[in-house]
Amino acid sequence: MSLVEERARAIFDRYSIKEIRIPVLERAQLYQRSSGETSDVVEKQMYTFTDRDEGETVVAIRPEGTPGVVRAYVEAGLDRTDPEQRLFYSGPMFRRERPQKGRYRQFYQFGVEVFGRPDAACDAELLIMIDELCRNLKVPFTMEINSIGDQKCRPAFREALVKWGRAHWDELDEDCHNRIDRNPLRLLDCKRDAKVTESAPNSLDYLCDECRAHFDTVKELLTAAGVQYVVNPRMVRGLDYYTRTAFEVMAGGLGAQSTVVAGGRYDGLVETMGGAAVAGIGFAIGVDRMALALEAAGALPAITPDAAIISMGATATHHAVVVARALRGANLNIEVLSPERKVKTLLARASKIGARFAVIIGDDELARGVLQLRDLKQSTQREVAEAEAARAIVEARG
Ligand code: HAM
Repeated sequence: MSLVEERARAIFDRYSIKEIRIPVLERAQLYQRSSGETSDVVEKQMYTFTDRDEGETVVAIRPEGTPGVVRAYVEAGLDRTDPEQRLFYSGPMFRRERPQKGRYRQFYQFGVEVFGRPDAACDAELLIMIDELCRNLKVPFTMEINSIGDQKCRPAFREALVKWGRAHWDELDEDCHNRIDRNPLRLLDCKRDAKVTESAPNSLDYLCDECRAHFDTVKELLTAAGVQYVVNPRMVRGLDYYTRTAFEVMAGGLGAQSTVVAGGRYDGLVETMGGAAVAGIGFAIGVDRMALALEAAGALPAITPDAAIISMGATATHHAVVVARALRGANLNIEVLSPERKVKTLLARASKIGARFAVIIGDDELARGVLQLRDLKQSTQREVAEAEAARAIVEARG
């Protein structure tokens, strides 16, 4: 498990979020109905194939986790029997992409989905949790939030975008011409020239009173919790199911692919997928990108052995296994080096793998029940009784 996943799990535990395992293969239809027919994920990036079953079902290799979790939630009847659920999942996702730094065809997400909580406090709680995780990982980050309204107020915003798109036709590229009718919200992601969208309508101006009050409460709660955020009224997210709060967390050192966490509320999705009218909200951490961000920030702790074991002679080599086991039993990280080489070569190897100590066992040491303990950092060496070795290493390590 990566450091990112380990820390995320520990934090999710404290927020009472339980694990759900979802399949890698689902019907392609599931994503068409939820992520959206016109989303890039479905339109361009989904890997699909036709199953050899009677109905020749078109199957997709999951491009994201949210639809699968919603399907499982509805299929288990939780929307009716026990709607309030806090779930997390982790695993590989697949999207047809042109691979580059931070953008892969197979990447890992660690996601959370919370059902049955329409209140703004839930949005704030998840954002506070993300803030806590990023701080814990010591990665420099910026959190951007927005509200994109709901079924009631979004149509007016959409309409304003369509109108704006038509008026700015010549400044938009072909990709965006297609978006005008098919997915006008995505006009705000026009790539040709970021300046073009400066004059575009922004979602916050179109919020109905309920959506505005919801967003105001989220902001108040974040401020009260000391979470730093920026309101970005141009952020719309690329998946169709979002309503109200949308958010993205950006980290430094990643170049163009800087979004390490992204998500939002999706209050109508459970119903669209055949369930009851239950609210939903969630996010996914891009584990690969987060790891790159940690590396760039120098916050990725190297896992190095406390000691490397070097043995000389057949009997000592046999005994090295016993010594390694005893040292590991004392919670030390031990690597046994290949006995087939010269001591000098092996000492160089021990330094290369970052071992703090080399434990050297020869037949002579073995006969006397001792070991040579070489401190590779301080270039000192002393003889210790075998039974004392673990304590000596732990003490020196501090
Ligand atoms: P998404 O924005 O498509 O949202 O992906 C979430 C995160 O996954 C991105 O911010 C990024 O860190 C990572 N990611 C996406 N594509 C790639 C890629 N090709 N290579 C590496 N990392 C990538 C979702 O998937 C939603 N299901 C999130 C969500 C959960 N919303 C509500 N609940």
